[in-house]
Amino acid sequence: MDKLPLGVLISGRGSNLQSLIDACNDTSFPAEIACVISDVPGAAGLDRAGDAGIPANVIDHGEFSSRDDFEAAVNGVLDSAGVELVCLAGFMRLLSDGFVSRRHDRLINIHPSLLPAFKGLHVHERVIEAGVRFSGCTVHFVRAATDEGPIIVQAAVAVHAADDPDTLAARVLAEEHRIYPLAVRLIAEGRVKVLNEVVEISGCRSPDDTLINPQAD
Ligand code: GRF
Repeated sequence: MDKLPLGVLISGRGSNLQSLIDACNDTSFPAEIACVISDVPGAAGLDRAGDAGIPANVIDHGEFSSRDDFEAAVNGVLDSAGVELVCLAGFMRLLSDGFVSRRHDRLINIHPSLLPAFKGLHVHERVIEAGVRFSGCTVHFVRAATDEGPIIVQAAVAVHAADDPDTLAARVLAEEHRIYPLAVRLIAEGRVKVLNEVVEISGCRSPDDTLINPQAD
């Protein structure tokens, strides 16, 4: 079976990259990481790639005179590695419309909220301030507008009364590490279609349960 070649773009810690590395270590997983690119020199995720024997590249935005030149360098590395699906994994730089449209439905992102709620930064602080009872994470196809695009997989977690942004972030992150490999697997297995900007997935079922938070005694 041919494996789907992935390119993973990071800027920092790289725990979602690690979840993809771990998934790809299973020989039955239908994708493999062809290259990792960080726009931040010294990002911790680069060591994770190195430890896994995956080619890791630093493409430092500061060394380019324009975003176009920076993105051309990123595309050059992705193309020469034969990448077919690009996974943004904590990549903190905004990408141009041109970059995004060149990889239409071949560029995905993970965001730590139940999109379309709580786009942008400082998600967990805003979730707690808003008093919502559930939060979660989303893997979606990337479109020109930040944190928008057809939703592939979501996981929901309860927000606890005692949560602070760090405890909530940790609970959400654990689910991120489950759903990013799941989304990649579904795409690699050819089970994901985008129709009128809505994702249809074949051969899956949705959970039966309704969740209520809080639970009264
Ligand atoms: C994650 O919370 C992800 O959802 C967001 O940035 C964070 C990256 O974490 N886009 P890591 O670098 O993968 O550990």
